Amino acid sequence: MTDADDPLAEFRARFALPEGVIYLDGNSLGALPVATPARLAATVSDEWGKGLIGSWNDAEWVTAPQRIGDKIAPLVGAGPGEVIACDSTSVNLFKVLTAALSLNPSRGTILSEAGNFPTDVYMMQGIEALSGGRVRARLVEPDAVEAALDDEVGVLLLTQVHYKTGRMRDIARTTALAHERGALVAWDLSHSAGALPVDPTAARADFAVACGYKYLNGGPGAPAWLYVAQRHQERVTPALSGWFGHAAPFDFIDEYRPAPGIARFLCGTPPVLGLVALECGVDLLLEADMAAIRAKSVALGELFASRIEPLCQRHGFVLASPADPAERGSQIAYAHPEGYAIMQALIARGVIGDFRSPDILRFGLTPLYLRFADVDRAVEILAEIMATRTWDRAEFKVRAAVT
Ligand SMILES: Cc1ncc(COP(=O)(O)O)c(C=O)c1O
Repeated sequence: MTDADDPLAEFRARFALPEGVIYLDGNSLGALPVATPARLAATVSDEWGKGLIGSWNDAEWVTAPQRIGDKIAPLVGAGPGEVIACDSTSVNLFKVLTAALSLNPSRGTILSEAGNFPTDVYMMQGIEALSGGRVRARLVEPDAVEAALDDEVGVLLLTQVHYKTGRMRDIARTTALAHERGALVAWDLSHSAGALPVDPTAARADFAVACGYKYLNGGPGAPAWLYVAQRHQERVTPALSGWFGHAAPFDFIDEYRPAPGIARFLCGTPPVLGLVALECGVDLLLEADMAAIRAKSVALGELFASRIEPLCQRHGFVLASPADPAERGSQIAYAHPEGYAIMQALIARGVIGDFRSPDILRFGLTPLYLRFADVDRAVEILAEIMATRTWDRAEFKVRAAVT
């Protein structure tokens, strides 16, 4: 595939990308859709400014979490009423893990892999601390997960595409195995949703969570989403029993009674501005074909890997992602002892990727707005930086708060 025969080429113009920037960080913060600013401005000035509180009904703010959830559902292979847009991924992890444990009450272990995204692990540890000894948060090496599925594991929590290496797990296979061993499964799809076809329904996955600000292009700190398989929804009484998940929030009664279906996984008042921006990103993604997105993502990754290969030998980059594109998500990572400084030097030249401690340069490949020519140019710039040792300047070694 080349830019000339790229079926997604037209989508680039739908994003407001700054001139001269090659953006390789859509896996961390997706780019701004052109439609978003006007939609947000109208929400602020018309719906909020003029409609005031009436907009909860008139502008359908109150049903935005369900409406946007139903739009996300087909992007991630879920059915209507199985996804809701709300809270952060961290908060949603708490909700789905406590829900899973309540459905599997004779088992107290939450199992995950060492090196999973920190918030996933920290939320497991928080639930353990809160449980008064009933719950155990257990981490094992990535390749030991299947063997660790013993009769104490109540829920297995895995991220399908690893945030650092991009390694991709097989949802269907792992879910089937966990079920066979009596565990429920919660998937973190933060690096999958909008980047590749996923199908938790077909895989009979129990729960899933993911961010809205990565490949869904929902904006910084966008609301996240969660998925609960239809078959479990009515069996869970949410631990975060907020009033927006109540069956009748505006009855203002003292007794908590969960709403029917996925709505019970809401907690507090929905963040309308964030949801509106998220909806713009989701609407845009719905116009694209997910199989085409995956095909282009693989082609971009293969081009990147082949272009960088000579630099690996000359300058000591080591591929930190699986070599087989079928085992990678939509990103590619390289280890280098000077990774931080090299990434800052790249960013100074307009090639924006990111750095993950201790030594990983991470490049996100977002098919909707990245061209093959951008990949060529990014690697050319990297080669220049290495050949001239530009990275070896003091200014590139100062650590910022966000890397
Ligand atoms: C796999 C994964 N889970 C969760 C998060 C973040 O969750 P939150 O939006 O709550 O900060 C990230 C952020 O990069 C992530 O990569």
